Amino acid sequence: MPLTGLENSELKMIIFGGKGGVGKTSCAIASAIGLAERYKTLVISTDPAHSISDSLDQHIGFKVHQVDTVPNLFALEISADKAFQEFKKEHERELIKLFDTSTTLDDDDIQEMMNLSIPGIDEVMSFKTIIDLIEKNEYEKYVVDTAPTGHALRLLSSPGLLDGWIKMAAKMRWKYRYMIESFSGNYNEDEADVMLLNLKKTVTRISSLLSNGTKCEFIPVCIPEDMAIQETARLLKELGKYRIASRQLILNNVMESDEAGFCHQRRVAQMKYIAQAGQLFKGMQIVTVPVFPEEIKGLEALKKLRDVLFGDRTTAPV
Ligand SMILES: Nc1ncnc2c1ncn2[C@@H]1O[C@H](COP(=O)(O)OP(=O)(O)OP(=O)(O)O)[C@@H](O)[C@H]1O
Ligand SMILES: [Mg+2]
Repeated sequence: MPLTGLENSELKMIIFGGKGGVGKTSCAIASAIGLAERYKTLVISTDPAHSISDSLDQHIGFKVHQVDTVPNLFALEISADKAFQEFKKEHERELIKLFDTSTTLDDDDIQEMMNLSIPGIDEVMSFKTIIDLIEKNEYEKYVVDTAPTGHALRLLSSPGLLDGWIKMAAKMRWKYRYMIESFSGNYNEDEADVMLLNLKKTVTRISSLLSNGTKCEFIPVCIPEDMAIQETARLLKELGKYRIASRQLILNNVMESDEAGFCHQRRVAQMKYIAQAGQLFKGMQIVTVPVFPEEIKGLEALKKLRDVLFGDRTTAPV
């Protein structure tokens, strides 16, 4: 059964995630190629290891890049660390003001605070890049390739983490505001207040997009092996906590050969896990993808995978 609903025009963001090496990047790009036939599509890598360039066999990088020979498909690699450094550069004055007025730290301590990270902010800034593009309506579909599970979960938990920090900072500011008001009778919002408010708005925008099942869907990619299935089960549990919709799952690298010998034995082992996945992920649609005879690298191979994912198996391997 192919992937369903991705072509629904209301669905904006499709996130692919799962255990290391199971085929997330390949499935994300192949889906983006399929979607680009109807929609202006942007495929985004949030994985610090950035493999979309390798998979497409084209250099992508930190600026939106039109994918060669695929009309309507654009690609972008996002660096959470770079996004955070840019945020810090842009808001240095506000951050210093925030630390200075809300704490009893001296200048050296404040400088040290500036060198520390703010929980969740790197990832929130990555998401902000995506959400700004979505709100500008630049593209019709956004396909997100993530790093292996732990990192992807950090990405998804980032709005909550940063929200906690904002609340704490706002509380400290409240004390400062109270002090100023007691002395001078009035308090005018300053740039640190505006920055906190804008951060809060960003967190709210991200959380509401992620938990909007009409606009955002997470597709776990798994392989028929015990560890991958267990990790997918944990991933789905976490997604439930963040109220992120996940309706279908890709089971990749399935051996379809009926030959005797090594392949046959692997297939027998896989059958057990395919059945287990069916039980464990009841209620979800399972999309099986066969193991290809060659690695999935370059457009030709990616288009074959697209055909499997979108249901046209004429060019898919048997
Ligand atoms: N169905 C398949 N048949 C054959 N090779 C595959 C298949 N799916 C993925 N591969 C190959 O497996 C390797 C890993 O795939 P991919 O990079 O898409 O996985 P990933 O989950 O994104 O990995 P990482 O966790 O490192 O980001 C690649 O060399 C890819 O070409
Ligand atoms: Mg990858």
